[in-house]
Amino acid sequence: MDHASACAKIILCGEHAVVYTRPAIAVPIHDLRAHATFTPQAGGALHVHLEDLDERWVWSTHLQHPLAVVISHTLDTLGQTPPSGMLQVRSDIPIGGGLGSSAAVATAVVRVLAQALHHPLPPDEVARLVYEGEKLWHGTPSGIDNTVIAYEQPIWFVKGAPPEPFELSHPIPLVIADSGQAAATRDVVAYVRQQWEAQKARYEALFDAIGHVVHRARDALVRADWPELGALLNENHYLLEQMGVSSPQLDALVQAAREAGAWGAKLAGAGWGGNVIALAPPSRAGEIVHALRRAGAQHVYTTGVTP
Ligand code: PMV
Repeated sequence: MDHASACAKIILCGEHAVVYTRPAIAVPIHDLRAHATFTPQAGGALHVHLEDLDERWVWSTHLQHPLAVVISHTLDTLGQTPPSGMLQVRSDIPIGGGLGSSAAVATAVVRVLAQALHHPLPPDEVARLVYEGEKLWHGTPSGIDNTVIAYEQPIWFVKGAPPEPFELSHPIPLVIADSGQAAATRDVVAYVRQQWEAQKARYEALFDAIGHVVHRARDALVRADWPELGALLNENHYLLEQMGVSSPQLDALVQAAREAGAWGAKLAGAGWGGNVIALAPPSRAGEIVHALRRAGAQHVYTTGVTP
């Protein structure tokens, strides 16, 4: 039996502008994970069981399911026929919450197949294979999700350039709050595209301003200067609001976290729903978690993104 897993992720800053070739920073959430187990069985077929969705199918090249497509690309890359047996997949990562659940599930599957077929794959190959599924789930994603999850390290990401994983000197004290509102990344990205077409100069200026914030955020991260990083997260949230991708509920969560003592807070991911992140002084973390719950968050995770 083989087992592999993959972490969740959160975008720290730079979402949306990253689709327009500005930089973004994403970080792994190591303690929320997707798992894949492969058990060899006679019979010749590769059976797939997605436990959380209660879905079962037998892999074939004709299936259009994003995960089946990722499996096909993985087998092509490994130059192998499918192993005979049962592939079981489960995940602790909420689906559709901007924490990278689809990319994490696919990453765990690519890893377990590579392991079962005795052919380890480097992170850039894993990211490339998972991207094939991400395109089917999300339209034209920038590729940041599959990249940060494949490397399991903070990533400086510019679309079309090699990703730059980097080291942290200190854990990032983050609180992540799920608004409970669902929004499809594909719809929000399409809305931004439409606005950009209609008001190019305004949206280009917003993307440039976010790009500057992301450059400064990297310096602050490396120096572990949390007050400075918090101020930059606030600035990033303001720019996302101007872009039209926040929501009254996300604004309320951001406000609640700030009032409870966060160094800064912003929406994270596509927006209109999904998550808010708050940079939380450890002495205030409990208060911030309560404030986020009172303001309507459905789930709140405290996580130190570790070096
Ligand atoms: O909602 P998430 O966390 O999958 O993030 C989407 C991030 C965008 O920049 C809006 C789109 C993308 O493909 O990068």
